[in-house]
Amino acid sequence: MTGGTRLAGEVAVPGAKNSVLKLMAASLLAPGRTTLEAVPDILDVSVMADVLRGLGADTRHDRDEGQVVIDVPDTVESTADADLVRRIRASVAILGPLVARCGEARVALPGGDAIGARALDIHMNGLAKLGAVVDVEAGVLVARSSGRLQGASIWLDFPSVGATENLVMAGVLAKGTTVIDNAAQEPEIADLCALLTAMGARIDGAGTSTLVVDGVEGLRPVVHRTVPDRIVAGTWAIGALMTGGDVMIRHGRAEHLGIVLEKLTAAGASVELGPDGFRVRAEGRPRSIDVVTLPYPGFPTDLLPQVIALEAISEGTSLITENVFDSRFVFCRELHKLGADLRTDGHHVVVRPTPRLVGDSVLASDVRAGAALVLAGLVAEGTTEVRDVHHIDRGYARFVETLTGLGARIRREPSEVAAA
Ligand code: UD1
Repeated sequence: MTGGTRLAGEVAVPGAKNSVLKLMAASLLAPGRTTLEAVPDILDVSVMADVLRGLGADTRHDRDEGQVVIDVPDTVESTADADLVRRIRASVAILGPLVARCGEARVALPGGDAIGARALDIHMNGLAKLGAVVDVEAGVLVARSSGRLQGASIWLDFPSVGATENLVMAGVLAKGTTVIDNAAQEPEIADLCALLTAMGARIDGAGTSTLVVDGVEGLRPVVHRTVPDRIVAGTWAIGALMTGGDVMIRHGRAEHLGIVLEKLTAAGASVELGPDGFRVRAEGRPRSIDVVTLPYPGFPTDLLPQVIALEAISEGTSLITENVFDSRFVFCRELHKLGADLRTDGHHVVVRPTPRLVGDSVLASDVRAGAALVLAGLVAEGTTEVRDVHHIDRGYARFVETLTGLGARIRREPSEVAAA
């Protein structure tokens, strides 16, 4: 891409990656046909569809309609394909539904982005509380339950998104009441609870830190529309600010981006809320802001790389603190190649002002880092090449086309298309 153009125009935000993958897993809880709408056309959805097929669920992904139709048989397989599962971290979300439905789940320890240790102890301890016997056998997580899971009170050590989701999905078919305290409160969890409730589950406290789940005997399939992707919306908002642009972000839910929009406003953006989205405008050099990531409603870790890219071109010094993952800063090395003045120490990074970024060849190490490097390339002098962009395909549908539509001078090399 060639830097120097401002992003202007309109984008439509699709359903959230981090919701739809869990909604797909949740479909396993209800025999019959579940239809998910507003499904983003991203690589992880295709991989998750393959995971479900391997478990016996006939899964069709209509990319143009943005729809996934899942026909779940009365009996599902309890062993997931190891190679597929290792490709996406979110596949661990089948653990809860499988133990609840089959009394057994065998799920290879999952993969996903290289952004830290990403343990599963909170998932495992919670399932054990519900009566499952949980072990790791030769790199495969095995959970077994003789008979129905039993409701229990569970306090999470940390409000883990994935563990909260797994335990809710296990709890909905358990006998009795499950209480999950210190639960994650992300909008994607509220979306999952909305799907489960429509299926007939009884859940109180969706979107809060205490979830109370009264187990039911069975669930029925439904049609459900995925919540819009707040990370994609936030990425476009940061892009508008960095380029001094003007972008209308359709379907963007400002209420899910409270602290993000507050910070971007402090950095100089003007944010205008509309009935179906919001508009972000900016002029001149952004002011620097300090950011601390925390579980929702704190600043999302998935917008951290994009914010570091923003700070790299801001006018003052800023301090960024990452509290959720332990190696999200590996991407700083790449940003440094473009001329950013960064110093990392533990889970902090200090970003000092630099006169300008200059184009170079950089490597996308994960989905958000990839998006952040592209944003940096849009404001760098000259040409920037971002390699390994298949990471970006994991989370952003038609990323390059969307940017071209906003006026960016960017193209995708054929080899990178093949890599996806
Ligand atoms: C989800 C999102 C990811 C986002 C993250 C935090 C999906 C597919 N991914 O990931 O994009 O960045 O939430 O908002 O939805 N942890 C443990 N033990 C556990 C579970 C987690 O120590 O059993 C730790 C992790 O290593 C990490 C932190 O808790 O340091 C947060 O993890 P978690 O909230 O579980 O994130 P994910 O569900 O993996």
